[in-house]
Amino acid sequence: MKELETLKKEFETNIKEIKTEREVDDIYLKYLGKRGIVNKLLAKLATLPSGDKKVAGTEINNLKKGIQRLIENKKLLLTTENIEIGDLTLPGIKPQIGHTHPITQMKKYAEDIFLTMGFEVVDSVEVDNDFNHFETLNFPKGHPARDMWDTFWTKEYLLPIAHTSTMQHRLLKTRKPPFRAIIPGKCFRHEATDTVHEHTFYQIEGMYVSKTASLAELIGVLESFVYTYYGYKIPYKIQPTYFPFVEPGLEMLVEHKLKNGQKKWLELIPAGMIHPNVFKMAGVDPNIYKGFAWAIGLDRLVMLKYGISDIRDFHKGDLRFLQQF
Ligand code: DAH
Repeated sequence: MKELETLKKEFETNIKEIKTEREVDDIYLKYLGKRGIVNKLLAKLATLPSGDKKVAGTEINNLKKGIQRLIENKKLLLTTENIEIGDLTLPGIKPQIGHTHPITQMKKYAEDIFLTMGFEVVDSVEVDNDFNHFETLNFPKGHPARDMWDTFWTKEYLLPIAHTSTMQHRLLKTRKPPFRAIIPGKCFRHEATDTVHEHTFYQIEGMYVSKTASLAELIGVLESFVYTYYGYKIPYKIQPTYFPFVEPGLEMLVEHKLKNGQKKWLELIPAGMIHPNVFKMAGVDPNIYKGFAWAIGLDRLVMLKYGISDIRDFHKGDLRFLQQF
């Protein structure tokens, strides 16, 4: 039908000129509304002779579908055009999904530092026996030094490890010197807790065994580690101390600034030269090999990094604390 052709052309020109969603609504009403052009055409159908009705009906329906499609396209075009693109260089919005615990984050960070120094990372056990935990570390049965590690025992005479040094004998037995390794692990102690002592805490044991290992190297490794970890030359001091499995034994203390501006020394890394008896127990000849070892208190390391004043905050599961990391 000629009339329909003209109508179609007219609609196509009109819709092209439309610039707002409001105008789309208007043109919709004009053509497809209840009293719109298309419905009026359909009403006219009734007056046609029955032979023409079918043909005209199909043509009008096709026109209706065409108009509908163009209107929808136009709507889509206008809404996408109006979306504000904004500054694409701005950082994204942080999604509200959880994250790893600050101790886990910092354990990974510390591991990365030691990896760059050529250390292997070995997992620690969490439950062990008297042999690994005490005997091979030069604590004979009944030796009073065992009291320094007041711990829990199971009925089977096993214990949740009180220090990661429990792994030293295993490493000496399974690695061929020279070797260097760190062993992060979770430790447990029967502890009267306070702001710097917790019953569950983490250590990163370190071992370095070679023919020439020296005290100077030990201090050098520890210094490189704390300088890298804190990102500046954190003041530290070394003082002698006693552990049955080292000779000499020492500890590294680092400077800790309190909120009131005062400075304090915090014991951070007990260490020492591996005792000849520890080597002998593992069948390593102490006349040929030397070694040093240490255990970083991971929780304290993190406390100092972030200025956390109570070690017990790590295990409370308080989201207000955890979400800050
Ligand atoms: N195992 C000791 C503790 O937990 C710390 C320690 C001291 C580890 C000296 C060492 C070391 O490897 O050489 O108290």
